[in-house]
Amino acid sequence: MRTRSRKGAEKCWDRRWAEGGWGSGLLVFDIFTCFRYDIVPWMLLLGTIPYRSPNCYSLSLTMIKPKILVTGATGRTGSAVVTQLLAQDWPVRALARRRDARSDLLQRRGAEVVFADIFDPGQLIDAMCGVRRAYYCPPYHPFVIQSAAAFAAAARETGLEQIVGLSQWLAGPNHPALLSRQSWLIDRMFAALPGIAHTAVTPGFFADTPYLEMLPFAAHVGVFPLPVAGESRNAPPSVDDIARVAVAALLDPARHAGKSYRPTGPKLLTVTEMVAVISRVVGHKVRHVKTPLWMFYKAAKAQGRERILLSGLRYYFQEHDRDAFAVGAPNDTVHELTGKAAEDFESITRRHAEFPESRRSFGARLAAFARFLAVPILPGFDPLTYDRAQEQPRPATPHLALDDAGWMARHRAKDSPMTGSTLKKALA
Ligand SMILES: NC(=O)c1ccc[n+]([C@@H]2O[C@H](COP(=O)([O-])OP(=O)(O)OC[C@H]3O[C@@H](n4cnc5c(N)ncnc54)[C@H](OP(=O)(O)O)[C@@H]3O)[C@@H](O)[C@H]2O)c1
Repeated sequence: MRTRSRKGAEKCWDRRWAEGGWGSGLLVFDIFTCFRYDIVPWMLLLGTIPYRSPNCYSLSLTMIKPKILVTGATGRTGSAVVTQLLAQDWPVRALARRRDARSDLLQRRGAEVVFADIFDPGQLIDAMCGVRRAYYCPPYHPFVIQSAAAFAAAARETGLEQIVGLSQWLAGPNHPALLSRQSWLIDRMFAALPGIAHTAVTPGFFADTPYLEMLPFAAHVGVFPLPVAGESRNAPPSVDDIARVAVAALLDPARHAGKSYRPTGPKLLTVTEMVAVISRVVGHKVRHVKTPLWMFYKAAKAQGRERILLSGLRYYFQEHDRDAFAVGAPNDTVHELTGKAAEDFESITRRHAEFPESRRSFGARLAAFARFLAVPILPGFDPLTYDRAQEQPRPATPHLALDDAGWMARHRAKDSPMTGSTLKKALA
């Protein structure tokens, strides 16, 4: 372990030195290798130094902005975090699992792209060399906590100063969903890392998924098939707003250290109200169908959704029906952290309606109908067998969020706008 640790640190130093990731090291590097003594007084006068110097003639007078590592960079929130950081001229290292069209796009946009397995401590050390801050996006994986532990170990070895971690609203030590219990543990593990500022971003269901994943069916078949009750509510945030909150935390570690933020949309909506918005956007009546879970599983499995997510969704849909996402929603988090109002559901829906699978075209319509009609004959998914085969650890007394006194206290549920008849009904 000591050997690995020293090697990790040495490798990291070599890389920092070679890349000029550290401003002070770079200044010395540039002075002695490039002989540009003439610009040094100007740099000192202006209080600026170059943060990266691939060669002697491309020295740029850039304010010191530490490079930020973004994991899950090809995914929903990660790619939005990369885009927003680059738009504000922050140097970004985007971590992707493999090279593909998405990673090429990130590179073209100006990110430095590195390839690594988020479960591999050595690869994470390499990826973290020369960065001070990082966005951690947990993958949907039954051993996600192992990736977080590898991330924490690499962070300590490389001297990372800040982690902004994506977590979830329902996270808790007694939640029946393994993903939610692991999210809770990951938050605590990151928070306990000495010398590393930690901020947790804890959204409920995103507007983009699961709700607007159903948009192609709504647009082409006229149904919105989701196993949740029409009267149950959420104020779903957009992926872009979740990323904006994460970026605000990344840009000011000291201000946001030790905090937990739940971004929400601007308005609490029932599923029936969301479907009315969708009807308006697609231009025809859409009907919400509370699909049986077994049928939803067939469709989601065929779309390649991760089995650990499917296993958790049976609880998350129950939480939705009990209004757990309505607790503490809507709030001003997005506005307070970013200075901009949270996106409303209709704007997010209009953006999604422009995606090829939801636009009016014969091909998209045919594909949506074919997917819809094929669902009954697709193979299903049995979460009990899946959980058992994995030998998942179980809490002594599993509780959904509203039944968990600890969760209620942590989320100040008693002070939420739900206090009163709705909450009493949900708890009954
Ligand atoms: N959706 C919701 O309603 C909701 C609500 C609350 C919290 N969350 C949390 O959000 C998280 C997912 O965030 P997201 O939607 O932004 O992610 P996402 O779109 O599912 O993307 C996951 C990213 O992680 C990458 N990845 C997966 N395995 C990897 C590995 N072994 N090594 C390196 N990279 C790997 C993926 O790369 P590839 O694409 O190449 O595999 C992808 O870029 C989940 O942990 C969930 O708990 C979601």
